[in-house]
Amino acid sequence: SGHFHWQQGRLHAEGVSLEAVAERFGTPCYVYSAAAFTDHFRQYARPLAGRDHLICYALKANSNLAVIDLLARLGAGFDIVSVGELERVLAAGGDPGRVVFSGVGKRDDEMARALQVGIRCFNVESEAELERLDAIAGRLGKRAPVSLRVNPDVDARTHPYISTGLRDNKFGIAIDDAERAYRRAAELAHLEPVGIDCHIGSQLTELAPFLDALDRLLALHDRLVAQGIAIHHLDLGGGLGVDYRGETPPAVADYMAALLERIGTRPLSLMFEPGRSIAANAGVLLTRVEYLKPGEAKNFAIVDAAMNDLIRPTLYQAWQAITPVVNNGGRETRQWDVVGPICESGDYLGKDRQLALAEGDLLAVHSAGAYGFVMASNYNTRSRPAEVMVVGDALFEVGAREPLEALWQRESRLPQGAVVAD
Ligand code: LLP
Repeated sequence: SGHFHWQQGRLHAEGVSLEAVAERFGTPCYVYSAAAFTDHFRQYARPLAGRDHLICYALKANSNLAVIDLLARLGAGFDIVSVGELERVLAAGGDPGRVVFSGVGKRDDEMARALQVGIRCFNVESEAELERLDAIAGRLGKRAPVSLRVNPDVDARTHPYISTGLRDNKFGIAIDDAERAYRRAAELAHLEPVGIDCHIGSQLTELAPFLDALDRLLALHDRLVAQGIAIHHLDLGGGLGVDYRGETPPAVADYMAALLERIGTRPLSLMFEPGRSIAANAGVLLTRVEYLKPGEAKNFAIVDAAMNDLIRPTLYQAWQAITPVVNNGGRETRQWDVVGPICESGDYLGKDRQLALAEGDLLAVHSAGAYGFVMASNYNTRSRPAEVMVVGDALFEVGAREPLEALWQRESRLPQGAVVAD
């Protein structure tokens, strides 16, 4: 997006050069653009302005408090999948009344906390979960608003690990069982069915699967209404893809227009759970070349970021653009595998990249704002990277690099005498 751009031979996030970020905060470092988050969120909000709606940003994509805070101020709600994510929303000043709770394995304590703070809706994924939620709501003297996550059995045509709308995966209630489940929900004293929900997968680059799913949901909606089960909202999940490598996902506005046309005059409030399409192209991972290791078969550029910092290439063979941060035109290019320092062959950020590299160069791994830091680990006892957010010409540290001691602070040695060798 235009929020990361070249200016005077330097790659910038808005008004701040990434070279300046690296000087101040070191590498590896995630750099987010507030304007990009804002712009991506508004692409959803704008076409829905005239009707009742709630855009519940999927926190799992990037749950940094500054991101939550920024989106909350823009009017976002949040899609959470754990009590931890709920506590983050509260810690960042988000409104629990704008939270929906997804996930196949909600625990009792998670349901109880969500009921206590008064979330907007539980996206229930099984009949067993309906019974459990009813019991817990009863115990707390509450009535839980529920939406059933229906599995519409459509092929999202995306990577199998992130496709969730087919009959043979663990998510949702099969569409053929949905009416029975709604009748059951309507019977249970402490539940109030208010919505229908689906989420068919992630990084979708075509409209057709979304529209197929919508058609099946609308047919279900009409059957439920005919049976006297009032449905207030439709939650179409997240899943809209982004441009990592020349993909051309539908524009949000076109997606909305196609949906609104099909929904017609049904008086439904609309909800969405976008994650990637808001966060991915609002962030880059900044890293520095440590060593160059040209060879017979392969040239390796060893950088200071690794699979623990950004696992998408390793886990999904995902491709993310890697560019220099300072213009080095004139230098000779070669094909490089950009790899990290971790002791695994799968530790790479990009393969066969045509780059002109020298030791000490800064590189940006693009489209790293979603499923980047949130999937980072401390493998090899590496601190997770710093996170900074640019707002115009201003630069804020929104996540400190972990001090090494923090990595073992929660651990203990064995007590004296517990070890045989004593
Ligand atoms: N709602 C539900 C119920 C979900 O399971 C997900 C993502 C979303 C919304 C947000 O979907 P999005 O708009 O981001 O596509 N780690 C993987 C992606 C996993 C997505 C899981 N569910 C990756 O890095 O590609």
